[in-house]
Amino acid sequence: MSNYHIKHLEEYFQVYRKSVNQPEAFWEEIAEENFMWRKKWNAVLDWDFSKPSVQWFRGAKLNITENCIDRHLLTRGDQTAILFEPNNPNEPAEPISYKQLSVRVNKFANVLKSKGIQKGDRVCIYLPMIPELSVALLACARIGAIHSVVFAGFSATALATRINDSDCKMIITSDGAFRGNKTIDLKGIVDEALDRCTCVESVLVVKRIESEIQMKSGRDFWIAPLLEKASDTCQIEIMDAEDPLFILYTSGSTGMPKGMVHSTAGYMVYSAYTFKNTFQYTENDVYWCTADIGWITGHSYIVYGPLANGATTLMFEGVPSYPDFGRFWEIVQKHKVNQFYTAPTAIRALAKHGTELVNTYDLSSLKVLGSVGEPINEEAWHWYNDNIGKRNSPIVDTWWQTETGGIMITPIPYVTPTKPTYATLPFIGIQACLMDENGQELKGNQVEGRLCIKFPWPSIARTIWGNHQRYKETYFSAYEHKYFTGDGALRDEVGYYRITGRVDDVIIVSGHNLGTAPIEDAINEHPAVVESAIVGFPHYVKGSALYGYVILKDTGESRKHDNLRKEINQIITEHIGPIAKLDKIQFTDGLPKTRSGKIMRRILRKIAANEMENIGDISTLLNPEVVQSIIDNKL
Ligand code: PRX
Repeated sequence: MSNYHIKHLEEYFQVYRKSVNQPEAFWEEIAEENFMWRKKWNAVLDWDFSKPSVQWFRGAKLNITENCIDRHLLTRGDQTAILFEPNNPNEPAEPISYKQLSVRVNKFANVLKSKGIQKGDRVCIYLPMIPELSVALLACARIGAIHSVVFAGFSATALATRINDSDCKMIITSDGAFRGNKTIDLKGIVDEALDRCTCVESVLVVKRIESEIQMKSGRDFWIAPLLEKASDTCQIEIMDAEDPLFILYTSGSTGMPKGMVHSTAGYMVYSAYTFKNTFQYTENDVYWCTADIGWITGHSYIVYGPLANGATTLMFEGVPSYPDFGRFWEIVQKHKVNQFYTAPTAIRALAKHGTELVNTYDLSSLKVLGSVGEPINEEAWHWYNDNIGKRNSPIVDTWWQTETGGIMITPIPYVTPTKPTYATLPFIGIQACLMDENGQELKGNQVEGRLCIKFPWPSIARTIWGNHQRYKETYFSAYEHKYFTGDGALRDEVGYYRITGRVDDVIIVSGHNLGTAPIEDAINEHPAVVESAIVGFPHYVKGSALYGYVILKDTGESRKHDNLRKEINQIITEHIGPIAKLDKIQFTDGLPKTRSGKIMRRILRKIAANEMENIGDISTLLNPEVVQSIIDNKL
């Protein structure tokens, strides 16, 4: 399988050159040699970033589950596909072979059909990290339904917004979720959300925590008895290469979350190819990505990428701190994990607890360590490298986004020499560039600018569900004929990239993307609040945490500020979820504004970060006096 598995640096450069000089020939070969097609394409690539429109493998027919499941049945039917590790360490792990996965997906797909789900229908999935979550995704894909997974930490309001935006006909959930020593009432949240959704016709419920829940007659169905009765054979729906596979919401700096739409063939090819190389996955390895399938990392690198390669992918239901901070390492030892992929926020949280626990486990199975979701700081990088990898397992710092569908800039382990805090080189086929403020490309090395991509790659999101105009404005309008990532980056003297962070109003907290506007909108609903502004500030564990500046109405109320702080965080939890709670809330009489009335977040960011000395020029503000007052009352 030429070019599919890169093993040397020279080979990387050679393959990279080919992928850039002859992208169509390159991707055609990868697609042809490594996947199952029901019909070949008429054209490898059609694209026009000015529309924007991108089509890969136009005219091809396939089903991704045939690639992720069926084709493995003859060669590796008894091999573990999904290795489920429950929240409770005393509950046995459950290995699910490719054969068993096939039966479960086929049955599940038949249940979806029996409830009237057809090709093109949207199905919302709101489940904890249990095998049914992966099975549900694949079951949708098998019959051509478009899945929209909503992370099970989002509130009823956030869930309802997402269900309504894409007009979901069904929701798949569970009676509840285990999370460390807590349980979460997922079905209750779904019921509350559905009070605001008229599009949902049926709710399938997985029994996980055995709690007493309300089942609405004619709408809600336990899935177990339906699965029991269902046939274990379900013909695949033959999909067009460009048919949508899924929608996944991500926060923007303003307005509604954006339902990023991913297509079938390009997404499959790119997630599989990047998985193989970024993790150097070889036969019989046990691979573990700790992300939740509610995020793109889980879609691409727990489910689709690994399964398309016939890999064994571990799925963990719990949290790193339960029953203690050694849980990750206990799992690595128990299942002899070879590739371990996590987020800097988890690394920092674990590093805080020292190395005593780490050192009680045998981590010698590890070959590759991965990092994703936010910049990894130098201290965390070294802690990971020294204590987990024992300086023997290269760290792949993988930069990518919900919108990109797959890893874009990363070292290839044992191939690309790593450098702390650097995502290093663009992956095969990725034409990254840096732009200056005047819209000019920065050529050469040792430059810093805004990160763009010049040429389409197979798994680029094709649109925003129901809003192509917003897709165009957000990603293709800042720089002509380029995809703008929203990130800043620098290129060092050898051409390695380091991501410096978002340049828009998106803040990444513990690896989760949060737009400032939806949080501010939520806060402003509090009856005592006039206006608010949210900024990020450096936080040891979370990377960034949220700092809110809030102007209160002069109501003459004697309510304590502490109570108000609690109420504000409560409103945020209700509207978005606990992940968006503010770490600090400062009440203020005013916010620094430009003469056109725009809040100067740059100043607020500096104050929140305690960088008062380089606040810069404030003379052009409408209300410069407010700055000193904010500094004086800083928390
Ligand atoms: O700012 C970048 C940051 O996460 C953003 C994308 O977030 P999301 O769509 O939620 O996807 C996260 C998982 C792929 C990016 O715009 N980011 C992601 N990975 C890195 C990163 N920042 C620095 N280094 C990374 N390795």
